Amino acid sequence: MTHPKKQVILAAHFPGVNNTTVWSDPAAGSQIAFDSFRRFAQSAERGKFDFFFLAEGLRLREQRGRIHDLDVVGRPDALTVLAGLAAVTTHLGLTGTVNATFNEPYELARKLASLDHLSGGRAGWNVVTSYDAFTGENFRRGGYLDRADRYTRAAEVLHTARELWDTWPSGEVVADREAGRFTRTADPGEFVHSGQHVDIRGHFTVPRSPQGRPLIIQAGDSDPGREFAARDADAIFSRHGTLESGKAFYADVKGRMARHGRRPDELKILPASTFVLGSSLADAAERAHHIRRQQVSPQTAILLLEQLWNKDLSDHDPDGPLPAFDPVLDDDSIIKGRTRLFDDPLATARQWRATAEEQGLGIRDLIIEVTGRQTFIGTPSTVAATIDEFVQADAADGFILVPHLVPGGLDEFVDGVVPLLQERGVFRTEYTTTTLRGHLGLDDV
Ligand SMILES: Cc1cc2nc3c(=O)[nH]c(=O)nc-3n(C[C@H](O)[C@H](O)[C@H](O)COP(=O)(O)O)c2cc1C
Repeated sequence: MTHPKKQVILAAHFPGVNNTTVWSDPAAGSQIAFDSFRRFAQSAERGKFDFFFLAEGLRLREQRGRIHDLDVVGRPDALTVLAGLAAVTTHLGLTGTVNATFNEPYELARKLASLDHLSGGRAGWNVVTSYDAFTGENFRRGGYLDRADRYTRAAEVLHTARELWDTWPSGEVVADREAGRFTRTADPGEFVHSGQHVDIRGHFTVPRSPQGRPLIIQAGDSDPGREFAARDADAIFSRHGTLESGKAFYADVKGRMARHGRRPDELKILPASTFVLGSSLADAAERAHHIRRQQVSPQTAILLLEQLWNKDLSDHDPDGPLPAFDPVLDDDSIIKGRTRLFDDPLATARQWRATAEEQGLGIRDLIIEVTGRQTFIGTPSTVAATIDEFVQADAADGFILVPHLVPGGLDEFVDGVVPLLQERGVFRTEYTTTTLRGHLGLDDV
């Protein structure tokens, strides 16, 4: 007997503030106007995508002590944008990244339950914990916590939010005119939570929402991050987009779930992926090359090199050789508002030098070569085949696609690749469910 093929999950990431997003292209639109979000989300819905996704950045990044203004700078609040999108979409899941370190569970639970009501059961929350104390300075009490405490708090914040969502059983609002009663019981929404990070009591104000609990997504790669996902998340936004690293990550995280009494199919693994399409493989490769040059301008190349060297390299020629000296190993990073990107800067510098020498590359061409490659480059047909292969091989359950342009960057995927996935029988041709949990094949809660 042959097994039915796994269905591919597709999400659309309205790209955020990093150099994947090309704002300088003539076709690029606003990163902040509602019309950009609307057009992007409606393209995703036209393509029958599972959900729309927004990242979050709570402080503007700095490098060399000034705002990093080569990429898009600034973005609006995710949940506010998603609430607007609820009114102009009908089936698409609406998910946003919201920090569990700086926000309080009562307000998080209220906002997410409200979004779930407004959207008819399409809300999702990507629970992140933050990279750095620099971001925490924006918040009351400094906000920031050690890594171990961040995940302890994230778990407690999430568990508290669940308790709050569960305080209202379904059917609590009866609005019975004859009996003169609005609620079924006398005391809906009552809760008490007393823990290490959260100590609250009272009544939750939002009646049970259509999904019961919004979809929970996790993004974070450390051991505690993976454990948190295995225990508590419905989906993971991962960085492991190649076949081999995807399979290893998938097996690792799904292998942790039994310990928490969960089945592997209760957690969907969705790597972030970029794509470049062309009319032939050569055409796609040429477009990919052009996009990489747009993404890595001469100034961006120097700034990205500084992130490894941890030193001001503004006097270096972007077309010239790498610095003659080694990276500075200092705890105080030249970049603020972003994680340290390299575990072992000296080893990475050695690799980069070797690549530059072997291929005769200057700084900019080297940076183009060693950072941020596109995940899927090909014709619609080769890209559809690769996506199908990755999902059937358990390197992923689907992908969170990150186009390099807004608002139109998703269109060629929707028009070119989606019909081929549908022909392969691995992607829906119509929505058959109304909630985000339903789209992902997850049980109601
Ligand atoms: C694919 C991916 C996307 C992320 N997106 C965001 C984001 O939009 N906003 C944010 O504050 N943190 C984001 N993070 C950071 C994580 O939530 C987390 O705070 C950080 O990686 C530290 O957790 P870790 O030690 O488990 O990696 C992202 C992480 C990953 C892996």
